[in-house]
Amino acid sequence: MAGKKKEIKPLATGDKTIPPKGAKMIPIYIMGKEYLVPETLTIMKAVEYSGFKYVRGCGCRGGICGACATFYRYLGDYKLHTGLACQTVVGPDMVLAQLPFFPSNRPDYNLEGLESSPHEELRRLYPEVFKCVGCGTCTRTCPMDIDVMDYIALMKRGDLKGAAHKSFDCVLCGLCASRCPAQISQFTAAMYVRRLHARHEVPKAAHLESRVEDVKNGKYERMHKELAKMKQDDIKKLYVEREREPDMSELGKWMPEDKEHL
Ligand code: SF4
Ligand code: SF4
Ligand code: FES
Repeated sequence: MAGKKKEIKPLATGDKTIPPKGAKMIPIYIMGKEYLVPETLTIMKAVEYSGFKYVRGCGCRGGICGACATFYRYLGDYKLHTGLACQTVVGPDMVLAQLPFFPSNRPDYNLEGLESSPHEELRRLYPEVFKCVGCGTCTRTCPMDIDVMDYIALMKRGDLKGAAHKSFDCVLCGLCASRCPAQISQFTAAMYVRRLHARHEVPKAAHLESRVEDVKNGKYERMHKELAKMKQDDIKKLYVEREREPDMSELGKWMPEDKEHL
């Protein structure tokens, strides 16, 4: 067991959040070893507080990238829980293990030259999808509250557009696949149907196309070169002081005052 820490120390790495003074210290277990951490931290910050440094399994820190899939139990409780380490707050007697990577079914495919109908291709690439037993474990496991079982059912029925929409918030954490008794890689199959939908059904975004052309034509090269020469602190200042789009601006109405880079 680790020695009990009395003082709350600042976080070792990661963002600048300082635990509030007086926060209660609680025991958690990281790979079987006990650590005392402030109760206010997310799992990710608690792991760092305990002296670990993330070199994998951490990306956006904002619940978007899916890199920090985590399993945990509470001592004395049989239930296995799942969550994202950057979004889940620690609790007393949490026994933690992070999932660094989940080996899933990732077949090669070419969206331009499908050998048969998209649904038939789904059956060829992901035959396991059609073995779903409807247990609902994936839905209960998903940290994004996606009805995973339902998008798998839509895939089975051939409603690939519906499955693409239903799975849109997936962060590819792999937790659903890790718990599936039918060994389905739900999230990679869902990626396939979203790619199909985006490639063949959603109209092309004209503004994106013109921006890609701008990039290809070197419109931003000078700016990139200037940024590359700047000191890190100056880049941080520039970022903090940047002109921001208001959270609630009317869709398509807001324009920055500085239009130099549009
Ligand atoms: S966990 Fe697997 S078998 Fe169970 S509902 Fe989800 S996809 Fe189907
Ligand atoms: S659908 Fe699966 S991979 Fe996607 S967020 Fe939910 S649990 Fe993670
Ligand atoms: S670090 Fe990206 S979702 Fe947690």
